[in-house]
Amino acid sequence: MRYSKIVGLGHHVPETVITNDYLSSIIDTNNEWIVERTGIQERRWVDPTKDTVANMAAKASRMALERAGLTEKDVEFIVFATITPDYFFPGSGVLLQRELGLESIGALDLRNACSGFIYALSVADQFIKTGMYKTILVVGAEIQSTAIDLSTRGRNTAVIFADGAGAAILQPSDKPGILSTHLHSDGRFAEELYVRDPGSSRPREERQPEQINDTTHYKVVMNGNQVFKHAVVRFMEVIKEALATNNMTKEDISLLVPHQANLRISQYIQEKMALTNDQVYNNIMRYGNTTAASIPIAMSEAWAEGKMKENDVICLAAFGSGFTWASALIRW
Ligand code: UT7
Repeated sequence: MRYSKIVGLGHHVPETVITNDYLSSIIDTNNEWIVERTGIQERRWVDPTKDTVANMAAKASRMALERAGLTEKDVEFIVFATITPDYFFPGSGVLLQRELGLESIGALDLRNACSGFIYALSVADQFIKTGMYKTILVVGAEIQSTAIDLSTRGRNTAVIFADGAGAAILQPSDKPGILSTHLHSDGRFAEELYVRDPGSSRPREERQPEQINDTTHYKVVMNGNQVFKHAVVRFMEVIKEALATNNMTKEDISLLVPHQANLRISQYIQEKMALTNDQVYNNIMRYGNTTAASIPIAMSEAWAEGKMKENDVICLAAFGSGFTWASALIRW
């Protein structure tokens, strides 16, 4: 049986640190509210004159390749997860392919929001298992700061979402590797967390210049309470699904790397599943919620801190817009 294995991890976050106090100087919010409700202390925002989703992804990818002892030329396929591509189209996968100087390899974009990285990992896993490719670059990268709604109406999302990129390199292995992935969605809740425009469902008459500046363009709309309630249920469900599939129990988890949505969500899961502090990795305090980038950034940091060692069982889990939710269980 052929399995796939993560052989390198990398990440990149922009230099500019945005503190809660700075946000409070431009939005109607305050440090106490943000820390208490989300656990976030600071996050990174790009300099839009320098950074793009694709060039941040390239920096994360180069780190992952170097740690794997590989070069750009070894990459045979790209799977790119983002909901904030540099252009409406084409996707950022081809821009990353160009940034890395790769000629003609395939690049696939996925738009599964916070679950995007696990969806991307699952897709790459299938391509490796079938023998189609031997080295796949899987990326999650987002720039949310350029579209953040800084009005009071948008403050529940403006304080959470942030920028960054993470990457993983997958290669075949005769032993696992990625043990399983589970992908789910429930489109009945699509509008509970979404950006309405630019969207093709908008009639032509509503696409006039004055309406392009209206309130829906690039504005994240989130029913925070509703998202929170579903998130805690689905996170636990999909983690248990991963464990049951592999005949494991929560004691077998060496490290849970949850999507960094809100520290309260991670803590709730930890408490309900009775996991120890050492079993759960969080870095939302420093980076906020970077959507598809949050899991690979967290994995890359956890690995560098020596928290993912050979034979460890690593569990990834995510929930977000769609709703979508997903998990992956990995033998490191
Ligand atoms: O990553 C993808 C998935 N996303 C998530 O998982 C996010 C899930 N949801 C959440 O994390 C939380 O719902 C939030 C952090 C977004 C909001 O926390 P909450 O405890 O659910 O607050 P709320 O929306 O119920 O709002 C409570 C109060 C409201 O004021 P009133 O009506 O009680 O007077 C809000 O207007 O807090 C107010 N509020 C704020 N106050 C200061 C909302 N945002 C802010 C803010 N600063 N940034």
